[in-house]
Amino acid sequence: MELKDRARRVRWSRGSGSRSRLGEVSRVIIAHNPVGPADDPSTSDVLAQVELVAGALAELGIAATRLGVADWRIWEDLQRLGAAQGRGGPGGPGSRGTAGTAGLAPGTVVFNLVEAPPGMPGVHPATAAALELLDLPFSGSSAAALWLSTDKLATRALLAAEGVPVPAGGRLDRLGDPGDNGRDGSDEVNAGDGRGPGGAEVLDRVPPPWILKPACEDASLGLDGDAVCATRAAALARAAELLRRFPGQPLVVERYLPGRELNVSLLAAPPCDQRDPRDERDPRGQRQPPMVLPVAEIEFVDYPPGMPRIVGYEAKWQPNSFAYTHTVRRFPSEAAEAPLLAEARRLALAAWRACGLSGYGRVDLRLDERGVPHVLEVNANPCLAADAGFMAAAEQAGLSAAEVISRILADAVARHRCDRQERVDRQERVDRRERVDQVDRVDRRERRQDAPAPSLPVAGGVSF
Ligand SMILES: Nc1ncnc2c1ncn2[C@@H]1O[C@H](COP(=O)(O)OP(=O)(O)O)[C@@H](O)[C@H]1O
Ligand SMILES: [Mg+2]
Repeated sequence: MELKDRARRVRWSRGSGSRSRLGEVSRVIIAHNPVGPADDPSTSDVLAQVELVAGALAELGIAATRLGVADWRIWEDLQRLGAAQGRGGPGGPGSRGTAGTAGLAPGTVVFNLVEAPPGMPGVHPATAAALELLDLPFSGSSAAALWLSTDKLATRALLAAEGVPVPAGGRLDRLGDPGDNGRDGSDEVNAGDGRGPGGAEVLDRVPPPWILKPACEDASLGLDGDAVCATRAAALARAAELLRRFPGQPLVVERYLPGRELNVSLLAAPPCDQRDPRDERDPRGQRQPPMVLPVAEIEFVDYPPGMPRIVGYEAKWQPNSFAYTHTVRRFPSEAAEAPLLAEARRLALAAWRACGLSGYGRVDLRLDERGVPHVLEVNANPCLAADAGFMAAAEQAGLSAAEVISRILADAVARHRCDRQERVDRQERVDRRERVDQVDRVDRRERRQDAPAPSLPVAGGVSF
């Protein structure tokens, strides 16, 4: 999630040619998680995204239905919607005519703004997974990419393996006896050298100061108060507090990088309507590389020395806080900082590819004391509110909200077509192999029948 930019408002100019690419889309269901009056602003913020998408669709002339998904069970809501639309038979967009969605009008696409229920981040990919099973086109990333990018520990490991720099860090999911300074005897049992996975030994391996965050939250949840710790005692106390507040969730302990903060938004490339969808894939099985939007920087204005420079919970959600009013987005000049911005773009693209994102995404980066950029996290389906980072970067690139939404939808349709084609191809390959095997079997049988009866080897009077 990102910093709010109070000053910026997205232009609502009509995106040129947007509509023509979306001929197949008859209706967009804007699906979002339910919001109650008592919800945290990081949850209710989804309504601002619904507004932006609905406004863009109105401009594009595409019919829209807003769907607050009750209890995060989108399949039930779609079934109700299909029944209400009163279409019988298999004519839904799913080639299999899936019973649950058969009533939906052909050309229906789901705009997936459903986030996880509070305290259950692992459920985040469930909506995308259900839509994949229902064979419905939907916006943004697949269930697999959503799962991967929700888990900061998994993302870090993957990026590091791909050669993308991440801050030194690791996992902390249990604390030993406080008298033992956080060391837990089970580590020694686990690893034999006192440095087992998951224990406070990560604090020995990673140099201070540390920043501690819950591994699977976003929107800076858990990054409030004293998120940056300079001493082992402070880190252990913070870890104990976070493990209590976010039960069942491991923590990421990272070296706090003191340098500048950048973020890079990426948007699916416009699909080429005329070509076979399979041609759009690069050798790694992905479609054309996404468009990299202008690199943004979050500046920490007039921060007193010693105050951690982080875009934490206060900076994102508490308008009266110092952090909220003194964190400002700007777009560094390409001419002045070409090598740094090129490197940030390269890393963001590598992170997009490694995590298998689609549609739209945002990668958060931070420089170390030597000015080397590291990836902090990868946001699949980042916030699309008009005042959030993604739309600010799109505006900086000269893209209207309507153009952004039309590209995301066009990508959803193209991806759905590609995936379906791939399934058909796979089935054809299986059928072909099956036919060849069958011919082979018949052939072998006939040859055996033609051949003279083999003389069986005999050992000790017993035939084998
Ligand atoms: N290793 C780090 N070094 C410095 N700042 C960090 C580090 N990790 C997180 N932060 C700060 O905390 C903010 C939120 O962390 P991030 O990993 O992006 O999680 P979230 O999903 O909550 O946005 C970042 O934008 C950055 O300001
Ligand atoms: Mg972030």
